[in-house]
Amino acid sequence: MSDAHARATTRVRVLPHAQLCPAGTEFDAQPGRKLVDELLAHGVAIEHACEKVGACATCHVHLRQGAELVAPPGDDEEDQLDGAWGLDAQSRLSCCVRVKGAELVIELPRFSRNHAREK
Ligand code: FES
Repeated sequence: MSDAHARATTRVRVLPHAQLCPAGTEFDAQPGRKLVDELLAHGVAIEHACEKVGACATCHVHLRQGAELVAPPGDDEEDQLDGAWGLDAQSRLSCCVRVKGAELVIELPRFSRNHAREK
């Protein structure tokens, strides 16, 4: 593997969200770590009601860029996503996504499954 492929970090860009990160944010994440852990470590207080075992869908995000870089969702993740608010083709559970690739762009849904966040 060449050095060009051996990136030490993945750039994560989070689009603005009224409650969780009003100005948006960007940070370098550690490939191989759960996306939810990297979000939490960098000040994005995303819900994770099942403690990150893929059983609640409150950690739902939209992977607006970079989805092709990470492993695709498994059947269990797909099943949980069915209950997520605002589901679309780029929906993922951030506790099921392992950080990978040069850049990921994340949009946080306005609402979570647990609470209808006020706008
Ligand atoms: S934290 Fe529950 S599904 Fe991700």
